Amino acid sequence: MCHLKPSSLTVLEALEQQGVTAPFQCREGYCGTCTATLVSGEIEYVQEPIAYNDDRRVVLCCCKATTDIEISFVGSKA
Ligand code: FES
Repeated sequence: MCHLKPSSLTVLEALEQQGVTAPFQCREGYCGTCTATLVSGEIEYVQEPIAYNDDRRVVLCCCKATTDIEISFVGSKA
């Protein structure tokens, strides 16, 4: 589980800035590799992803945190 503050960076970029390695490939919303579970908080898409997403599954390379958020993805610490 990772915690982030609101930021103008994408969630993927904000994680990298904190030294957290999240899975990714295209960084453009196509592949779905960076999809994660939004455990709490709110995000907003800065770019509409092609990859699947819903209210709880979010595409990290295309969204930013608008509140404090908690996310969980493969490889993140529980
Ligand atoms: S890295 Fe491909 S959708 Fe985010």
